[in-house]
Amino acid sequence: ETEKMKESRPELFDFHGVPMIHYFTDNWENIQNFEARPDDILIATYPKAGTTWVSYILDLLYFSQTFADRQASIPIYNRVPFLEFEVPGIGSGKDLADHLPTTPRLIKTHYPVQFVPKSFWEQNCRVVYVARNAKDNMVSYYHFDKMNMIQPEAGEWSSFFQRFMDGKMGFGSWYDHVNGWWKKKQTYSNIHYMYFEDLAEDTGREIDKLCSFLGISPSADVKDKVVSGVQFDNMKKNKMANYSTIPVMDFKISPFMRKGKVGDWKNHFTVAQNQVFDEDYRKKMKDPTLQFRNEI
Ligand code: A3P
Repeated sequence: ETEKMKESRPELFDFHGVPMIHYFTDNWENIQNFEARPDDILIATYPKAGTTWVSYILDLLYFSQTFADRQASIPIYNRVPFLEFEVPGIGSGKDLADHLPTTPRLIKTHYPVQFVPKSFWEQNCRVVYVARNAKDNMVSYYHFDKMNMIQPEAGEWSSFFQRFMDGKMGFGSWYDHVNGWWKKKQTYSNIHYMYFEDLAEDTGREIDKLCSFLGISPSADVKDKVVSGVQFDNMKKNKMANYSTIPVMDFKISPFMRKGKVGDWKNHFTVAQNQVFDEDYRKKMKDPTLQFRNEI
């Protein structure tokens, strides 16, 4: 299966103005008709911004007490379905979401905001958006495309670097994604917009903010367990959180839990690339209210 997929790396194509691969558009009609419930929680991110980290935090906050055994038996990608994922032989995120036995349902998407099924807005669902600084996000995406056989070919770093700036990535431009969701927050208040860098700086503080957004108050004991359970090293060795059970990823190339750092871009960007990047960034990121930290 994996060998076959190696030969069939998907190509990006234009889908309603956004570069996409077919695995995330094949089920489009059904996804658009998805019936959200008022207590559903949507975790929305650009790929590689910290989706799994926040998914695991939410899963532990809600279910570590009541469904303890699922921690040892159900991988995170099955507890928190990836709504638009539609890969023959592996699964359908929409079907998984439709049949989730737990409440609230935690549902993940990488769609740019304009692709989100309308029922989420109609039901006024809570949305947790996680954003990560562009440089680290780019580096993480590069390693991910290398190791994941159902992602487009990463190519050389220098060409990937250019493609990222040009927005020719799966799920489109990072710049459009973070800005699109940021703008949505102005008209739809039920969005908690959070940053990978803040989470790395002080996980406990960010979990407190999340809980206040979600309207939950875990005991000190539960909170301590969550903070420790979601530490990078603990998630990296946790088979239910580290994606080692999924067939399309080649961990010999790179593990899913790769570094988990803020500032790893410094090991990839040349001085010249960094200058080009910063200049281009200033042109694209005009909104002074949306600020990222490239280091902490
Ligand atoms: P790196 O490639 O920089 O290591 P996503 O879940 O959106 O695909 O994002 C994956 C990125 O988040 C990877 O970044 C991964 O290592 C990082 N990550 C996942 N869990 C983490 C954790 N508990 N602490 C820090 N980083 C984490």
